[in-house]
Amino acid sequence: MTPDRIPHHVAIVMDGNGRWATRRYLPRIAGHKKGMDALSACVRHCHDRGVKVLTVFAFSSENWKRPREEVSSLMELLAVALAREVPRLNAEGVRLFFVGDRSALSAKVRAGLTKAESATASNSRLLFNVCFNYGGRWDIAQAAARVTAGKEAITEESLSAAMALAHVPDPDLVIRTGGERRLSNFLLWQAAYAELYFTEKLWPEFDGAALDDALADYARRERRFGKTSEQVSTALAKKVA
Ligand code: IPE
Ligand code: IPE
Ligand code: MG
Repeated sequence: MTPDRIPHHVAIVMDGNGRWATRRYLPRIAGHKKGMDALSACVRHCHDRGVKVLTVFAFSSENWKRPREEVSSLMELLAVALAREVPRLNAEGVRLFFVGDRSALSAKVRAGLTKAESATASNSRLLFNVCFNYGGRWDIAQAAARVTAGKEAITEESLSAAMALAHVPDPDLVIRTGGERRLSNFLLWQAAYAELYFTEKLWPEFDGAALDDALADYARRERRFGKTSEQVSTALAKKVA
């Protein structure tokens, strides 16, 4: 795969943890734990392949509607993940960002997120955004509120600059595991021109080979951004020459 065929920014809706566990007669949280292992492997695989930005959907604004025990297990898992993974990510040159509404999280969790972000702030091999208590509509609304508070006009540029992912370019490829074909309120603004890839694989089973399949599928696509196919191939030929 030529480097320009590798997506700069990959975003993933990590879905199917619960089903993975249920099929094995395990509690749903066992699926979330296994999903964490899949995520650590995926981060490594992404930087090995030359992906520069990885954004994952870990907990949506709608996931609060789940049974209370599952929500609290997910919060605990976040704390465990921070303790276990941050030193490893740091050693691998990964810079961590948490994206989402932190106001609903406990003070302890919030402190953990800030600490993890500052511990990895000087890394640049891979920018890794973890969307936690994130919703695409929340993001658009908070950006609009910030722009308005700054007495600026609402334009595509001013909104983009106020979005929670303003520190990275828009995703090139959005992957959703678990067989559902929907965005579930993920990156509504930023995914405007992303290539979408859906796989039946459940998130805990999403390994390096599965990521390579998604990257290969992406490499075969023609991104036109509204232009004609002829315009795109002419521009590409000029770039190669
Ligand atoms: C995704 O897996 C993880 C979170 C939403 C936290 P699910 O928990 O949604 O798994 P399924 O869809 O029930 O299998
Ligand atoms: C989307 O998965 C959210 C995350 C992966 C964190 P869900 O499992 O919550 O999505 P829906 O409810 O099936 O659309
Ligand atoms: Mg799900």
